[in-house]
Amino acid sequence: MSDLVVRELCKVYPNPRQDVVVLDHLSFELNRGDNLAIVGPSGAGKSTLLQILGTLDQPTSGSVEVSGRNPFALGEVEQARFRNQHIGFIFQDHHLLPQWNVLENTLLPSLAFGRATQAHVDRARELLERVGLSDRLTHLPSQLSGGERERVAVARALLLRPTMVLADEPTGNLDSDNAATVGELLLEVPKEQNTMLIVVTHSMSLARRMNRCQELRRGKLTDTSLVERTG
Ligand SMILES: Nc1ncnc2c1ncn2[C@@H]1O[C@H](COP(=O)(O)OP(=O)(O)OP(=O)(O)O)[C@@H](O)[C@H]1O
Ligand SMILES: [Mg+2]
Repeated sequence: MSDLVVRELCKVYPNPRQDVVVLDHLSFELNRGDNLAIVGPSGAGKSTLLQILGTLDQPTSGSVEVSGRNPFALGEVEQARFRNQHIGFIFQDHHLLPQWNVLENTLLPSLAFGRATQAHVDRARELLERVGLSDRLTHLPSQLSGGERERVAVARALLLRPTMVLADEPTGNLDSDNAATVGELLLEVPKEQNTMLIVVTHSMSLARRMNRCQELRRGKLTDTSLVERTG
């Protein structure tokens, strides 16, 4: 069985006039080391899908299994632990804590259920080196460029060796040079770490370079044509 199995996923927002169907019996599978780009028009439900995969939102119906487990069957505390262990998030506005430096921000996931061990610190340093930030360890987020902040978010998402990394428009706020650098790292580093990567992006140049690119439209994922991908 695949590391991620999504079956008949539905998300419906009840509305007195007409229910809003955002995800409509959506199914797909993905394995560690694979990557998937999700594209689609604004309002299509891309962020909703990532939020559900990340257990930050509940599906209306359907199932999600990560490494053979259904996170929605878990109690609140267990689910938080599951999220911490299996899922790394990278958001467009990176969500770094302003009063914490680069190394501390990277260590954040290790603090959720305890304290950072020497092994966590070593791994954080190694990941920060990998994303080219070895000489920025004690900088605060305000002392970094947008691309550097996004690279901290990449390192942080990978700290606990999650099953999957979910990224919502990670290059959306960056100029094209920075977007290219972050995009490169996003493609390479999770693969090296055998982590699954799902990226929502409006950047066709990023989507095109990923293993799979699917479009979310009318609540379902469909293959995008090669013409669109290279056009
Ligand atoms: N709490 C809610 N109640 C009702 N409708 C909602 C709610 N949250 C989101 N929606 C609707 O769900 C749809 C999908 O929203 P979502 O944020 O997932 O879109 P998106 O594909 O990420 O768009 P964008 O590219 O603009 O970020 C939107 O039409 C939105 O209005
Ligand atoms: Mg969105």
